[in-house]
Amino acid sequence: MNICIIGQGYVGLPISIKAASAGHKVYGLDTDSLKIEQLKIGISTSPEVTKDQILMLQKSNQINFVTELVDDLSIEVFVIAVPTPLNEHREPELKMLKNACLTIAKFIESECLIINESTSYIGTLRNFIYPLIEENSSAKNLKYAVAPERIDPGNNVWHLENTPRIVSGLDQIAIDLAIKFYSTFCTRVYQVEKPEIAEAAKLIENTFRQVNIALVNELSEVASKFNFSLHDAINAAATKPFGFMPFYPSIGVGGHCIPIDPAYLSYSARLVGVESKFIDLANATNLAMPAKIVSRIESQLSYKISGMKIQIAGIAYKTGISDIRESPALELIRVLESRGSQITYHDPLVSNWKHLYSEPLRTDIDLGIIVTPHAQIDFSIWKESGTKVIDLSLSSNDYGWPKFL
Ligand SMILES: NC(=O)c1ccc[n+]([C@@H]2O[C@H](COP(=O)([O-])OP(=O)(O)OC[C@H]3O[C@@H](n4cnc5c(N)ncnc54)[C@H](O)[C@@H]3O)[C@@H](O)[C@H]2O)c1
Repeated sequence: MNICIIGQGYVGLPISIKAASAGHKVYGLDTDSLKIEQLKIGISTSPEVTKDQILMLQKSNQINFVTELVDDLSIEVFVIAVPTPLNEHREPELKMLKNACLTIAKFIESECLIINESTSYIGTLRNFIYPLIEENSSAKNLKYAVAPERIDPGNNVWHLENTPRIVSGLDQIAIDLAIKFYSTFCTRVYQVEKPEIAEAAKLIENTFRQVNIALVNELSEVASKFNFSLHDAINAAATKPFGFMPFYPSIGVGGHCIPIDPAYLSYSARLVGVESKFIDLANATNLAMPAKIVSRIESQLSYKISGMKIQIAGIAYKTGISDIRESPALELIRVLESRGSQITYHDPLVSNWKHLYSEPLRTDIDLGIIVTPHAQIDFSIWKESGTKVIDLSLSSNDYGWPKFL
């Protein structure tokens, strides 16, 4: 089939590569011309995709990276994979989704299938995408499906092919066409009755994590006051062979999913007049963690951090990737700076953020804080120099989890 994947980021690029490898002819569309230029020379935007894959599929003309579509490409399937962030009120910001729909409306031909993979509120396919494209296109008999992306960039076990793909659509023909498409590169496709179920499933998955992480983050305050390690308590609870799933406290949640999707679920609830206090509380609890942790660091050190030279190791939201969206490290930096600390950071995958540029690990600092210990960071210089270090990461390493958290 001729496919157009709109958005070539963490979600869209792996889909483009898998679809092209499965034999489809793929147009990888992105409005970011720099990204497209980079993709053309094999620079990947995703840890799932290698330079060799990109170059090989372009050479065989199986994939074309473009900033604009032209007429007469005979595209049979459009897949939407554009960002769906939050606005300043932490409500859905669907400008990019709207623009993607308008692009589809301009180039779509009759009988085509449109699939939304972008995460959005419940009812987006039926009440936003469908009317927008229908109002702006003269094409007839279009089919609409939804297949929310569940990829976890950098996860070596669960990836696009073996993570079950939830699929639904506005009618059975759309569902069947979407199943046919995903079956060419996914091992399991799971059909649900209505698009709203698929949209809700995606939001529920990530809200489940947000709520459980918020619970242990709240408990970390209790453990801190009682002066015991919450990790030890959670590990003890996890010896129960049923009915318990361990989550661990942290500085908060980051990326384009866990901090954002619950806000989309909460928005969905408000659309139908339901107040989702529980979800909103989880969001607020996790957002408050960097400030709480700074206060705990101050009480642990028994002196104010004002004037201290602090270096943060790793500011991306998780190890192995360069994505800083919603990263709690950024809020940590903001809080530390507002309390008078002098901040530098080291992150081999993030060259700069606002006024700061990544610098090598330093030893002329009062405190090092490990947030995201990428495998590429060599901590030996801190270890050998005896630099005071607090490790806020969830990974087990030589520094261990600070008991006061
Ligand atoms: N990142 C993840 O781990 C992840 C996982 C599952 C689902 N999602 C969801 O997938 C969607 C995409 O997220 P992402 O992380 O891939 O974002 P991203 O920022 O990595 O990539 C999106 C790309 O879309 C491009 N774009 C924006 N508007 C466009 C338009 N009108 N036409 C063409 N290109 C356009 C941007 O330039 C960008 O390159 C979001 O809804 C997100 O919630 C993300």
